[in-house]
Formats: sequence, structure tokens, C-alpha cells
Amino acid sequence: MRSAKPVALVTGGANGIGRAVARHLLSCGWQIAIIDLADSGLRRAFARERNVLAIEGDVRDEESVADALEAVLDRFHRLDGLVSNAGIMVRKPLRRLTIAEWHRVLDTNLTAAFLLARAAEKPLRKARGAMVTIASTRAVMSEPNTESYSASKGGLLALTHALAISFAPDIRVNCVSPGWIETKDYSGLRRKDHRQHPAGRVGRPQDVAELVSWLLDGKRSGFVTGANFVIDGGMTRKMIYEE
Ligand code: NAI
Repeated sequence: MRSAKPVALVTGGANGIGRAVARHLLSCGWQIAIIDLADSGLRRAFARERNVLAIEGDVRDEESVADALEAVLDRFHRLDGLVSNAGIMVRKPLRRLTIAEWHRVLDTNLTAAFLLARAAEKPLRKARGAMVTIASTRAVMSEPNTESYSASKGGLLALTHALAISFAPDIRVNCVSPGWIETKDYSGLRRKDHRQHPAGRVGRPQDVAELVSWLLDGKRSGFVTGANFVIDGGMTRKMIYEE
């Protein structure tokens, strides 16, 4: 039987931002499916949640993504929201970056969003649902030795607006670009870590979760599609020339 509550699929939801997104959506009345790697701690993280379908899988893998979508529809018979969040970073001087590492980053951060969007198009259209991709402010600015990550996130920005146009008017597709979101030891941050942000603090996973849940909710954000939302405490608006 088709579930009465809306259903969202979140990738990389066992940890960090994805876990906060999944937990926040649950608290807003969504049912959740999560895809994450077998060694990610996914089952432990959501062991006692009734409204969660935990799927061990690799978002780089076409078959794995297709199987995950099938499992979601088997269980809930609907899909209203898709959050393509799973991501990895390799920081290495370009001369030492292997082609295998380049592909691993591009496949995880960019190709997976294509695989997910393609597999989820039909149920999302039926639900007049929404997709959110998680990029990064590194799509538009860089530190040294981050080529594969920046390229993948830049691609994700472009993929997002392309999908928004192809899927219109049935599915809204938006991108969230976080800056520094501390997913581990927030209380261990230094004063200067916070102070350098125009907003006065480093970001928390919950900051991103609130924005994602707004973007998935068509009643609140129904006029928003193809957009990129920077959530970085103002860092990309700050001039950094030294005096
Ligand atoms: P995290 O490392 O805490 O969590 C990422 C999750 O994705 C993990 O549970 C991991 O197992 C999963 N994952 C990785 N590869 C996977 C694969 N092939 N298949 C399935 N699951 C996979 O990372 P965090 O910090 O929560 O980042 C989440 C997203 O936000 C990423 O896309 C990241 O690039 C982006 N982001 C994070 C920022 C931050 O400051 N934390 C800043 C900007 C963007």
C-alpha cells in the first residue's frame, strides 16, 4: 500500500550532513530511505528508527542505485524527495593524483547524482517531488590540491540546472553549496575559526538540514528551481586581501 507520509531518499546519510538531513526530515514527518556504504555505520546510526529503510550500497554503481530505487518503491510505493549528498574529497598535489583517484571522486560526487536522478525520475515526476544536490563553495573557489573535488562540485552545479530544466515542471531541482560545516568536534573549534566567518560562527550539519527540508517541501519552496543556495556564513562574500 502507498505510504501516506512523504518519502525521501538521502545518500551518504550514515554520517555528517546526510545524517542530520535524514534526522531532520524524520522529525518533520517524512519517511526516509538512506543509501550508504556497508562499512559506514548506517545500520547502527538508525537502528531504532521505524520510518527508515537502510540500504547498503555504493552510489557510484549503476546497479546498486537501480536496486536502491527498487527497494524504496517496494517498501513505500512512492518517492517525493531525493537528496544526493554522499561525497568524498582527495587532497593531493596534482602531479601525484592518480587517474583512479580522479575517477573515484568524480564518480562519487557527480556521476552518482546523474545515476540517482535518472533512476528516480519516474516516481519523482509522479509525486511532483524535488531533488537537492549537495555541492560546495569549492565549486567556485579553491585551496591548492583540490582539483578533483572542485571539478566534481562545479559539475554538480551545472548538472543541477540542467536537470531542473529537463524535469520541469514536475520536479524541482536545486543545489545547496555549504562552506565549512563541522561534522565532528564542534566544541573543539577555535575562536578564530568562528570569528573569521561574517556570521560569527562555523556551520553545523543542522544548518544545512533546515535548508534542504525547506527545498524539498513544495508548499514552501514551490517557486524555487534550478537555484544554488550558498550556506557558508558569508565566507564567499568576504574580501581577503591582506593589509
Ligand atoms: P561525511 O564524510 O561525514 O559523510 C559522507 C557520507 O557519504 C559517509 O557516510 C560516507 O560513507 C558516504 N559515502 C561516501 N562514498 C559513498 C558511496 N560511494 N556510496 C554511498 N555512500 C558514500 O561528509 P560530510 O562532511 O557530511 O559531507 C556531506 C556532503 O557535503 C558531501 O557531498 C560533501 O562534499 C559536502 N560538503 C561538506 C562540507 C563540510 O564542511 N562538511 C562543505 C561543503 C560540502
